[in-house]
Amino acid sequence: MTLRPTCGVDSTPHNLPPGFVVCPLTEMPDGRGRMFAFPLERGEFHLLVLRSGETCLGYENRCPHFGIPLAARDDQLILESHQSVSCNTHYARFRWADGYCERGDCEGESLVPVVLVVRDGLVCLG
Ligand code: FES
Repeated sequence: MTLRPTCGVDSTPHNLPPGFVVCPLTEMPDGRGRMFAFPLERGEFHLLVLRSGETCLGYENRCPHFGIPLAARDDQLILESHQSVSCNTHYARFRWADGYCERGDCEGESLVPVVLVVRDGLVCLG
């Protein structure tokens, strides 16, 4: 597999292959989020996964304000289940469903979406 040398410089924040397994769905509590980091040729691809029922939404875990992850650890993610996720640094609030920043220092910008699919009980890149 060839890894992209940088992350987040175009519309695709990684070059991991479709079908790449992120985690089992059973490790994603409904209405909660988890963060993952996957190595690239240089740096890491930071992924935020939000679960709603049998669906998982994916976003590059990179706040548009300062370009840093929304939180350092899963238990520090600020969530309103199925509604919003907020950045820990300056508390920009992003809509759960589409990553749009509806309040905060990067209002009007969005988290970069990452297509995910749930297949055979596994959360995978789409
Ligand atoms: S770094 Fe996220 S709101 Fe400022």
